[in-house]
Amino acid sequence: MVSRSDTPQDTVALVPAAGRGERLGPGAPKSLRHLGGEPLVVHAVRRLAAARSVAAVVVAAPPGAADLVHDLLAPVITTAELLVVEGGGTRQASVAAALAAAPGHCDVVLVHDAARALAPPELADAVAAAVRAGHPAVVPVLPVVDTVRQLGPDGVVSSTVDRELLRLVQTPQGFARAVLAEAHAACDDSLTDDAGLVERLGLPVHTVPGHPNALKVTRPFDLVVASAVLASESAMAGSRV
Ligand code: C5P
Repeated sequence: MVSRSDTPQDTVALVPAAGRGERLGPGAPKSLRHLGGEPLVVHAVRRLAAARSVAAVVVAAPPGAADLVHDLLAPVITTAELLVVEGGGTRQASVAAALAAAPGHCDVVLVHDAARALAPPELADAVAAAVRAGHPAVVPVLPVVDTVRQLGPDGVVSSTVDRELLRLVQTPQGFARAVLAEAHAACDDSLTDDAGLVERLGLPVHTVPGHPNALKVTRPFDLVVASAVLASESAMAGSRV
């Protein structure tokens, strides 16, 4: 059996958690909305901190909520260093703020959306291991199961896209630290993930199998699905006792 102390712990996980979550409807910032009695950011960070590879977690909190988020997380995060900074006006700005605060000894960086609150620790470890194996950028992906059609400007179907070549991209995404820093320095604010920035540098982005539990909570229905995932996790844990 591999224990935490047998594995390299030089990975820092950055958690952008500063989004307002308008598509979820009126209420608190998305990362502070509750799922099974706890805020999404607590679920997300607990799972990251449980990953064997993760030595430190840096959370980019909603503006004005850094102290609150720190107080929520400090009692539940005991196996990794915890830092909380204020996020920015865009996801990319939030990631950049977290990266600037990341401990210097960590040379592998994971970036993980607080909104993907139930991504399992094993997914973080698989992504970090692929970076450590030499890939400068790594993303977890799932196949596309629906038929995908492209529309023309008139809203009418113009073509069918070959879904065998398509993948849905999740987080945590993993990077050699120097590569992520260069990508952030070089690019504008227009992309929705970090691997896209690395792609613009012309570097290859490696894929590993994603996980259905790493679904992103965006709309109210996603909270319903996430609640069901959480309940099934608890039921499985209960049946193992
Ligand atoms: O809005 P969306 O779900 O795409 O955001 C993805 C992640 O980026 C979320 O965890 C959200 O909290 C975070 N984010 C952020 N700062 C922003 C906007 C989004 O940290 N300004």
